Amino acid sequence: MQILVTGGTGYIGSHTCVELINAGFDVVVFDNLSNSKESALDNVCKITGKRPKFYQADMRDIDSLRPVFSENHIDAVIHFAGLKAVGESVAKPWEYYSNNVGGTLNLIRVMNEYDVKNIVFSSSATVYGNPAAIPITEECPLGETTNPYGETKKMLERILSDYQKANPTWHVMLLRYFNPIGAHESGLLGEEPNGIPNNLMPYIMQVVSGKLPFLRVFGNDYETPDGTGVRDYIHVVDLAKGHVSVMKKFNDEPGVYIYNLGTGKGYSVLDIIHAFEKANQLSIPYQVTERRPGDIATCYSDPSKAEKELGWKAQYDLEKMCKDSYNFVKKSVLK
Ligand code: NAD
Ligand code: WQD
Repeated sequence: MQILVTGGTGYIGSHTCVELINAGFDVVVFDNLSNSKESALDNVCKITGKRPKFYQADMRDIDSLRPVFSENHIDAVIHFAGLKAVGESVAKPWEYYSNNVGGTLNLIRVMNEYDVKNIVFSSSATVYGNPAAIPITEECPLGETTNPYGETKKMLERILSDYQKANPTWHVMLLRYFNPIGAHESGLLGEEPNGIPNNLMPYIMQVVSGKLPFLRVFGNDYETPDGTGVRDYIHVVDLAKGHVSVMKKFNDEPGVYIYNLGTGKGYSVLDIIHAFEKANQLSIPYQVTERRPGDIATCYSDPSKAEKELGWKAQYDLEKMCKDSYNFVKKSVLK
C-alpha cells in the first residue's frame, strides 16, 4: 500500500514515515520545507534503510500536487502539512487560512481527480476549546477556539466531514493529537522549531542547551493540583504508531472516524520540569510568570476509543519522553 505523507519532513511526519516503512508501507513525501529540512529523510533512511520518494512543493500550488498522484499509485494520504504556531497565527491569519484551509482544499480536489478516497487528517485537542468535561472523549462538544490556527483545525474537520457526506465512498480519519513531545530514540529525528519556541518541551530543550536563560512557567494559580497547567503529553513515536494503526480502518465501511490520540494522563508544567530534571540528571531554571492568554487549566484525553477500535495504546511513559527529548538535543542540536 502506497501512502502519501504531506508534511513528511516535519516533526510528527518524519516519525510517522519511520513507523510506516517499518510496518511495510511504501511512502511518498510532499513538503515545501517551510518548517523542516530534507535531511530528515536521510535520517529516516538511516533508521529504516529506505528513503521515501520526495516532492518539494507547496500544496497552495495545485499544479504541484498533480504529479505526485499521476506519477505514483497513492492509496491513502496522511495529511500533516500545515502551519502550527498558535501565536504566529494571531499575527498572520491570512497565511494560516491560506496554507491550512486553502492547501487542504487543493489536496482534496486533486485526490478526487485521481480517485484517491482515503485521508487521515492531523487535527488537534485544540478543537475542544476549554473542554466541557475531563477526560475528553470524542463525544465532547467542540469548543470556542482562541486563535486562527485552532480555527483552521475546526474548519478542516468540518470541511472533510461535509465532503465525506457528499462523497460517501470516502474514508476520512480525524485524529486529534494531544501534546506530542519526545523524539526518535536514535536521536536522529526530533523537533527543532525556528526562533523562540511557543511550546513547553521545545522551550525546555533550548534552556537546557543554553540558548535561553530560563523557563517561564505561565501561571501557578490554575485550579489544578499544583496550580500550573495540566496537559496530556504523548511520545511522538507512540503518536506515529497511531497512524499505522488507523490504516486498517480503510478496510472498514467508508465514513468519518474520529480518534483522540493521547495517553489519558495529565501532567502539570512542574511535573514536566521535575520529570525532565530527574530523567536527565540536570536542573532547569524557571520563574513563574503571568498566565499566557488563551491557555486553559486542564486538558487530557480519554483514549479508550482508539484502543478499542484501532488496537492502539500509547506505550511510553514520561521518563522516556524526557530522555528521548534530551538525547535528540545532545545528538542532533548541540553537535
Ligand atoms: P511541523 O511544522 O514539524 O510539520 C509540518 C510540515 O508541513 C513541515 O515540514 C512544513 O514544512 C510543511 N508544510 C507547511 N505548509 C506547507 C505547504 N503549504 N505545503 C507543503 N508543506 C507544508 O509540525 P508537526 O508538529 O509535525 O505537526 C504536523 C501536523 O500535526 C500539523 O498539521 C499540526 O497542526 C498538527 N498538530 C501538531 C501538534 C503539535 O503539538 N506538534 C498538535 C496537534 C496537531
Ligand atoms: C503546555 C503547558 C502552558 C510554554 C499547544 C497548542 C495546541 C497543540 C499543542 C497543535 C501550558 C505551559 C508552555 C512555556 C509554560 N498544537 N507553558 N511555559 O498550549 O497545551 O497546546 O500545542 O495543535 O493547539 O495550543 O501546549 O506546550 O504550549 O503548553 O509554562 O514556555 O505548558 O501554559 O500549561 P498547549 P504548550
